[in-house]
Amino acid sequence: MSNRITDLEQLKTLLDKARSRGRNIGFVPTMGYLHDGHLSLIRTSASLHLFTVVSIFVNPLQFGPNEDYDAYPRTEDRDFALAQNAGADLVWFPRKQDIYASQSETTVLPGSLAHKLCGLSRPAFFGGIATVVLKLFNIMGPCHSFFGEKDYQQLTILRRMVLDFFVPVKIVACPTVREADGLAMSSRNVHLKPKDRHLALSLIRSINMAQEMARAGQLSCSQIRHSLIEQWPAGIELDYMDFRDDTQLANVERVEPSTRLFVGAWLNGVRLIDNASLWMQQTTRLQDSLS
Ligand code: PAJ
Repeated sequence: MSNRITDLEQLKTLLDKARSRGRNIGFVPTMGYLHDGHLSLIRTSASLHLFTVVSIFVNPLQFGPNEDYDAYPRTEDRDFALAQNAGADLVWFPRKQDIYASQSETTVLPGSLAHKLCGLSRPAFFGGIATVVLKLFNIMGPCHSFFGEKDYQQLTILRRMVLDFFVPVKIVACPTVREADGLAMSSRNVHLKPKDRHLALSLIRSINMAQEMARAGQLSCSQIRHSLIEQWPAGIELDYMDFRDDTQLANVERVEPSTRLFVGAWLNGVRLIDNASLWMQQTTRLQDSLS
């Protein structure tokens, strides 16, 4: 049975207890409305025999003025049951006033990593994420913390933050979990209209096509981009389609082992993002030709 708590002091007591029993801590921060993507992080932590804590907190600081903070789905009972089944030892629903005390005024300001990709259309987004995650990390203390590659820019910014601030947390990246048709799972997919579903697949189709082209030997990112833009359908607004390295998120011109394709789009008001490495297919091809 997992524990379900809101109280910060109770959390600290339970963490101390777990540590005194020799357990290491695994931490999975989420905003709830859990799906298989979130559950894969919880399962990974539990499979490593970590005392697994899941936090469920819709963080007001990472929503812009016209974004969906109030409309973000809150399904606490369902989330608790799902997290428990996936192996969580503790599910923590922080109180807003504990995380943001009324006199709190200090925030984290990420640097250049936050000023590209999603950061261009959502200027305060990554500062809000870095701020809440640093607060959560400081409450949790030394632990392993699990994040999805689905939100690769978030993962990269948090990795940098942990290094920059000497935070005693090890960040573990977990692969993107997808629907059967390839759509990356997201709490926002529920807002997609059934008639828009095929358009939502434009992101993964572009990624697959780029991987195919790289596999066939086309390593020029501008050539690949040109072909992807040509087949991008009407009805889904492309925000960005960038080829970047996996650490600095700098633009790259040739596909290399570190190259990832990042795609962001808007579909009738729903934000969709996806990304993947372009190298796996390429190395497979090289390995094929060696064997
Ligand atoms: P949320 O969107 O709820 O996501 C919580 C974690 O689940 C993140 O690490 C995210 O990358 C991961 N995740 C979401 N969809 C996934 C998928 N399809 N496959 C694998 N992992 C997936 O990300 C946030 O919340 C917030 O910004 C947070 C870090 C909690 C700070 O508020």
